[in-house]
Amino acid sequence: MRVVALVPAAGMGVRLGENKPKAFVHVGGSPMLTRAVRGLIDSGSVDEVVVMVPAELVAETRALLPDSTVPVHVVPGGAERTDSVRAGLAAAPDATLVLVHDAARALTPPALVTRVVGELRAGARAVVPALPVTDTIKSVDATGAVTGTPDRSGLRAIQTPQGFDAELLRAAYAVGTQATDDAGLVEMLGATVHTVLGDALAFKITTPLDLVLANTLAAHRDT
Ligand code: CTP
Ligand code: MG
Repeated sequence: MRVVALVPAAGMGVRLGENKPKAFVHVGGSPMLTRAVRGLIDSGSVDEVVVMVPAELVAETRALLPDSTVPVHVVPGGAERTDSVRAGLAAAPDATLVLVHDAARALTPPALVTRVVGELRAGARAVVPALPVTDTIKSVDATGAVTGTPDRSGLRAIQTPQGFDAELLRAAYAVGTQATDDAGLVEMLGATVHTVLGDALAFKITTPLDLVLANTLAAHRDT
């Protein structure tokens, strides 16, 4: 089985507001992308990595990536995250298992990568890391009025890496509708998506507050 990790890193980072594509913003002195790729490689569970970046940054990205015996390819991403993942899938024709892992989850522990791959190797065809939600979640209508309070015990916050049988993910992307995560496309095919326990350190660096937290955590980790 060939495990290929696709790393979407072509987003602009509008909410972070650092005036450069988010994956290239530094956390504790290294670009988020470099940290995310290193975490995948350090898991020992990945045979190959494909990174999708803005087209104009392909050449300089190669210089940022860690030296490794695991091959790391860099390809241009697309306008939406799904376009970037589609480009990564096209660059990984030999994959039997695929992980999709946001560069923005720069501090993801290697053990979480191993947990997802372990579940795939045990036979699951789609696996996502999941954490219980701590806030109460409410649905609202267009005016902001609350329409309901779903039972929190049945809700999970979903992270990456998300892991898939490569054929299943290719089939999901062939159907091609938009979803907020890769597992969402697989769900539309009617396939079962399994969960493994996520990790708080796999949070997505989205806002300036997240970046403060990430820098603090990286400083602790690296000393
Ligand atoms: N991503 C991508 N291609 C896109 C959009 C997003 O590869 N066209 C990647 C991002 O680089 C990131 C991951 O998908 O690693 C998750 O996306 P998000 O957190 O939304 O990052 P950005 O799109 O960069 O941020 P924003 O939405 O605030 O602009
Ligand atoms: Mg985005």
